[in-house]
Amino acid sequence: MSNSSDISKLTIGVVGAGTMGRGIVQLFAQAGHRVYCFDAQPGASAKAVDYVASMIGRGVEKGRITAEQFGEIQGRMQACDVMSQLRGCDVVVEAIVEDLEVKRKLFQELEAVVGDNAILASNTSSLTVADIAAACARPQQVAGLHFFNPVPLMKVAEVIAAVRTSPQTVETLKGITQGAGHRAVVTADQPGFLINHAGRGLYTEGLRIVEEQIASPSDVDDVLREAMGFRMGPFELLDLTGLDVSSKVMASIYEQFQQEPRFRPSSLVAPRVAAGLFGRKSGEGWYRYDADGKKVTPQSRVKTTFPAGLAVWIDPHASCAAVLRDLAVTAGARVVADGREADLAIMQPWGHDATASALLVGLDPARCVAVDPMTPLEVRRTVMLTATTTPEARDAAVALFCSDGVPVTLVNDSAGFIAQRVMATIVNIACNIAQRGIASVADLEDAVQLGLGYPRGPLAWGDQIGASRILTILRAQQEATGDPRYRPSPWLVRRADLGLPLVTPDAAR
Ligand code: NAI
Repeated sequence: MSNSSDISKLTIGVVGAGTMGRGIVQLFAQAGHRVYCFDAQPGASAKAVDYVASMIGRGVEKGRITAEQFGEIQGRMQACDVMSQLRGCDVVVEAIVEDLEVKRKLFQELEAVVGDNAILASNTSSLTVADIAAACARPQQVAGLHFFNPVPLMKVAEVIAAVRTSPQTVETLKGITQGAGHRAVVTADQPGFLINHAGRGLYTEGLRIVEEQIASPSDVDDVLREAMGFRMGPFELLDLTGLDVSSKVMASIYEQFQQEPRFRPSSLVAPRVAAGLFGRKSGEGWYRYDADGKKVTPQSRVKTTFPAGLAVWIDPHASCAAVLRDLAVTAGARVVADGREADLAIMQPWGHDATASALLVGLDPARCVAVDPMTPLEVRRTVMLTATTTPEARDAAVALFCSDGVPVTLVNDSAGFIAQRVMATIVNIACNIAQRGIASVADLEDAVQLGLGYPRGPLAWGDQIGASRILTILRAQQEATGDPRYRPSPWLVRRADLGLPLVTPDAAR
């Protein structure tokens, strides 16, 4: 490294002047580094530097930077026609095509060009960094530096420590990333690294719920977005990314984890990819899109009126028993104390399905429904039918639950509602990331919020719901399905058993 004591002003090379390369050039040039950009396509690097300059120039128009600062940043960026121009670089970040052989060849060529102390980093999102490093003479100076699109706005990057990466290499990459205003999270060289790994649960469990005919894609999205605070539901996200792209990521992470059942892709996906239902880009995915790209909203269910005087029983153990009682009284119900006298019985189980809950309290499942205690009742209500709930009881329940204007999602019998199942899966995967030391707890929590836009870190979210409740949901799912994907992480089991929080200080692990 030319100036190892001061990493605030390095010479950084960026190879690959596409979507990601441009963002990386902009980030480091704005942070005060000298940046050299190279691309195999003649003229591509010059075009990229012009593009970046025009993006930064907007900051002058908006008064965010002065014309003088703009000139300085512009002066720090240089387009290269030949790779040998990268010879003085302290760090080179590669953002070329996602192909192992092409990347390995490039890294070998780069090693021959740069100085002995230079660091080579790959922006790969799916390859094993050690596979790239294995082609190099100095693997200790090779790491991953995984940014997200758009780079200047997605304020997080993963520093991937491959098995032979030196701590100093990790520290330098962390330093330049944090110096550029991004949160650098350190992760092991494991499939999906940290963020794509932690993000699996939303998709796998969302798909599983639809596969089991528990709810429709739009029901799943509505509940998770409105009641749990996700920016988008899994099906909206899949439509945005494109199922052709996402299906490959799902399959690759599953295979790289030696067919770990937690990441098993859904059989719903392949036929939809074959049919070209990719999402927004093909005009139809889980949703249909009109000519302007606007989502065609699915038809909402026909509203029914609540039959006044209907006998309603509310499980006294329900988390929101008082709220439910008020709602029933206001809707004109006759609230009864004995469930056997009720036309409609309402429960709020954690983990158990509606049928099991009815049988547990000795009631006829035909007159029972359950409502999710996890989602705030004032935002959206998820109402679960038993296997035999009558159409009369179902219509009365829907009429009751939307009588004050709050939207209702009707789901079929399932151990855990939409939100319970998805949240338990997300928390369980995060617990396993912590258990395996793929990242520190602090990095995991920040990475998920910054990289996936979740309103909370997954372990803190688990603490808010309650570790023992998460465990109950997983065990109920495991018992109901026999599927090992629901087996709880040891991290979760121990902490739930001991009554300890899931967010454990890293020093205390
Ligand atoms: P891109 O297709 O927009 O750009 C790739 C650029 O690399 C092109 O300009 C191409 O001419 C150049 N290139 C290809 N082979 C080269 C070689 N041997 N030497 C020099 N230049 C070469 O690709 P994009 O989307 O920027 O992705 C780049 C890398 O970043 C990939 O590894 C990808 O997996 C990863 N990535 C992409 C993200 C995204 O959202 N696009 C997000 C995170 C990582």
